[in-house]
Amino acid sequence: FNVPQPVNEPILNYAPGSKERELLKQALRDARSAETEATLHIGGKKIKTDKKVAMRPPHDHRHILGHFYMGDKSHVQQAIDAALAAKNSWENLAWEQRAAIFLKAADLIAGPYRYKLNAATMLGQSKNAFQAEIDSACEIIDFLRFNVKYMADIYAQQPPVSPRGSWNRVEQRPLEGFVFALTPFNFTAIAGNLPSCVAMMGNVVVWKPADTQIYAANLIMEIFKEAGLPDGVINLVYVDGPEAGEVIFNHPDFAGIHFTGSTAVFQNIWKTIGNNIHKYKTYPRIVGETGGKDFILVHQSADVNVAATAIVRGAFEYQGQKCSAASRVYIARSVWPEIKKLMIDDLSTLKMGPVEDFSNFVNAVIDERSFDKLAKYIDAAKTDGQVEIIAGGNYNKSEGYFIEPTVIVANNPKYVTMCEELFGPVLTVFVYEDADYEATLEVIDNTSIYALTGAIIAQDRYAIDKATHGLRNAAGNFYINDKCTGAVVGQQPFGGARGSGTNDKAGSMINLLRWVSPRTIKETF
Ligand code: SER
Repeated sequence: FNVPQPVNEPILNYAPGSKERELLKQALRDARSAETEATLHIGGKKIKTDKKVAMRPPHDHRHILGHFYMGDKSHVQQAIDAALAAKNSWENLAWEQRAAIFLKAADLIAGPYRYKLNAATMLGQSKNAFQAEIDSACEIIDFLRFNVKYMADIYAQQPPVSPRGSWNRVEQRPLEGFVFALTPFNFTAIAGNLPSCVAMMGNVVVWKPADTQIYAANLIMEIFKEAGLPDGVINLVYVDGPEAGEVIFNHPDFAGIHFTGSTAVFQNIWKTIGNNIHKYKTYPRIVGETGGKDFILVHQSADVNVAATAIVRGAFEYQGQKCSAASRVYIARSVWPEIKKLMIDDLSTLKMGPVEDFSNFVNAVIDERSFDKLAKYIDAAKTDGQVEIIAGGNYNKSEGYFIEPTVIVANNPKYVTMCEELFGPVLTVFVYEDADYEATLEVIDNTSIYALTGAIIAQDRYAIDKATHGLRNAAGNFYINDKCTGAVVGQQPFGGARGSGTNDKAGSMINLLRWVSPRTIKETF
């Protein structure tokens, strides 16, 4: 028994005058006036608390989209109890029944909820229509459909040999306990994927999204319920991270964490789990995708147009707030003047402003904390003699957290913005001598603790080969003649090692295998 091979969900383009654009605009207007209330979802019940927190669009922070209810430790405990109460029925449900729920959720997002979920992502996370479409429509739908296919493939895999008189088989059991899913602000698709792929494999989940993602996360939860997800299988809580951690990581039934977020938080979680290891019934699965300091390397043989486009799109789509975003670029001196001109020309065409105006490519960064941090790096660059700002450099938070796409040129490849993750629309370029290509590979490999994505732009096959080998451990997703963002489920399994995470490739069988604990059965006749 198997499921059909899925195909990637087609991307709608929202062209001016199109019906799709009108529907999305209507969804944006509806969302703005709806005053949404995001409750906690525990054991199928919507829970309100006495602490209401306003949700605001990052590009228009004076407007209130609605409120979420902030929970505390007692809600985390309730969520664990609800998950464990749901566990037995859920894990004994035939996998086809579980699959049907998530396939239905994919269809609901592809159909009736497409505009609403895109509007939620646009308003809550300040994403333009195209960036929302590839995230909260296509990618989340692809995650759900492809994961069902991978799930079926996992269950179908059995030991190839059973000598006469015996039958060897493997049963893919869910983990013993509950799993904690922690999701970041920057992708609605990740919010959909992290709890759902764990649950799909028969597990029960406590899910905590970033506060800045709650607006979309709440809607995803509603969609899962409408698709038929039984009560208690996924429990959505809004609670302060350390408070949640105190309950979760001290619980004997804690069986794993599916995390996307910052390296520092992930490392702390790992330490806490290590310190508490004697408290758990089983070794918890620790799966995390964390930071990035992603690079684009441009060789002297590069097509300069390909290079300029890859750099500008890779660095500034969604204001550089993708863990895959290009943030350090190494360009051969002989092609730099042309690429610099092309980049500056391209950047001058990118409009910045609220998401409601679809001609804006650049929207706001997620919150004031992020804005202030980025502004500090930009200010430091303005007064540092080692570097020059050749584009952008302005910022303004009076109405929304707007930061111009900023390009810094550094004459030191270890300048602070070449090394540290900034998570925003700030790109640093280092121009290397053409003859230093191989030395530059080493610099790239040794400049940051991360290893998520990277790209080589070159036409010379020897140069491509050298980069592909030399940077083998510097990126989990490596692109040849393309930007380093925009991995597609079913095409480029996504994730990195080193400081970027456990490299359990989101949207792949590798990831789903982390959420089962196989039992081998030998039967003798
Ligand atoms: N998967 C996204 C990308 O490749 C990042 O999370 O851009």
